[in-house]
Amino acid sequence: MSLKIAILVSGRGSNMSAIFDAIEAGRLDASVELVFSNNPDAAALSLAADRGISTASYSNKGISRQAHEEEVLSILSKYEFDFIVLAGYMRVLSETFLREFKHEEGYFRVINIHPSLLPSFPGAHAYEEAFAYGGTLSGITVHLVDEKVDHGPILAQESFSRHADDSLDQFKARGLALEHKLFPEVLQNISKHGVKFIKRAEQYAPAAKPPQTKKEASIK
Ligand code: GRF
Repeated sequence: MSLKIAILVSGRGSNMSAIFDAIEAGRLDASVELVFSNNPDAAALSLAADRGISTASYSNKGISRQAHEEEVLSILSKYEFDFIVLAGYMRVLSETFLREFKHEEGYFRVINIHPSLLPSFPGAHAYEEAFAYGGTLSGITVHLVDEKVDHGPILAQESFSRHADDSLDQFKARGLALEHKLFPEVLQNISKHGVKFIKRAEQYAPAAKPPQTKKEASIK
């Protein structure tokens, strides 16, 4: 079944464009019903309009979160879609908003892409923080959204290397290329098989064992 999505964006929209490209290339069986932005000047809006996609915007400047979300809900209510796809939407969604998209299985029909291996480096500066930390690997996470920021059931994670001589821009470019591959793949998986998510590692963590005695530790 073809997946109907509404994409929410705030900025340049490169992930959104990767989704359009995948649909046009036949790699993603989906249709974009609407692109909405909280930023009327977002480059993503004109990129979407150039592809003949319906667009809408409503600025969040100078109004409360609640007033803005009510307006977004009213705009979204004019369209039919299975999932909201956050592709660089720089607003935290309230529980009241999310509840409007609750699936009968309990999750919210809202998907986000985040440029780190969550739960590491949540927040708006994930690339910068992962780069500054200096690990040899970082990654990309696609997850269902819940009430917490950059949190919720993980749909897919892939890692990419941080080379020793990377500049921040090189590191980001490698990550962004992976984002553009992974996001359409995950959406295609949902289109074909529905939502299957990997539970967070801590939900699988076995109950803590009591510390080993010296005797047990020596028996191998
Ligand atoms: C991406 O890095 C995405 O992971 C994050 O916001 C950025 C949006 O970039 N959530 P773009 O607008 O898709 O180019």
